[in-house]
Amino acid sequence: MTATLSTSEHVQSGIAVQLAGVSKVFGRGRQAVAALDGVDLKVAPGEFVCLLGASGCGKTTLLNLVAGLDAPTTGEITLNTSRPAVMFQEAALMPWLTASRNIELPLRLAGFGKADRQAKASELLDLVRLGGAGHKRPHELSGGMRQRVALARSLAATQRVQGTDAPPLLLMDEPFAALDAITRDVLQGELLRVYERTSTAVLFVTHDVREAVRLGQRVVLLSSRPGRVVQEWSTAEDGAETLTEEITARLREVISTHAKS
Ligand SMILES: Nc1ncnc2c1ncn2[C@@H]1O[C@H](COP(=O)(O)OP(=O)(O)O)[C@@H](O)[C@H]1O
Ligand SMILES: [Mg+2]
Repeated sequence: MTATLSTSEHVQSGIAVQLAGVSKVFGRGRQAVAALDGVDLKVAPGEFVCLLGASGCGKTTLLNLVAGLDAPTTGEITLNTSRPAVMFQEAALMPWLTASRNIELPLRLAGFGKADRQAKASELLDLVRLGGAGHKRPHELSGGMRQRVALARSLAATQRVQGTDAPPLLLMDEPFAALDAITRDVLQGELLRVYERTSTAVLFVTHDVREAVRLGQRVVLLSSRPGRVVQEWSTAEDGAETLTEEITARLREVISTHAKS
């Protein structure tokens, strides 16, 4: 009864992910590196949040903590979602499996039967516009196509056999950073299109202000290491250009303040 109440409270308060006072220190003593310091962050169910910061400020560390791949040194992380799916800069597909089989893999781990797996993989391939390419192996695909397969695979990883109430969560760590500018632009558009067709919450890490403003409903700026939340913006209000300029200026300020200290 208590558990049911607390779940509905979370739904009402609209929290998919919550970080409260999260710090992370790697190593000990003189070698200790403080990667994150007192980070507070909330993501609502179905919300698309971009986490922006300079290289080395602790973005990947934060995502790893949310993914449960590592534990915070202090602070608390609460997830009211199914086990998060993660997508990285490198597609990391199994080279010996076809695109379809790569997408089926998380479905198999989740316990889906063969027919269901094949049907869902085919649906997801269509969703990322790779309908005809399911039989291809990663080396036969371009970098952009491999990231489409990786996106479909991470969406597959949010699927559950038993329909639970827990909303899905996708964690993305600079997934388009290694692509050329044109392909990146296309895939950003594709991600938005796919996002609108799913109910997933997204926590998207990037060092690219333009990308953050284009994709996120909210942009959260982290300071240089140790990462702290400096400021956040809703992308609903100002025009994209104005907002990009404002955030870029703030990011520069944050980096130069750090360089002086
Ligand atoms: N496993 C680790 N051990 C020691 N230091 C680490 C480890 N992982 C990350 N760091 C350090 O923490 C800081 C933040 O790293 P990271 O989260 O990868 O930054 P970002 O993703 O923003 O570029 C860096 O200084 C990095 O060297
Ligand atoms: Mg990183």
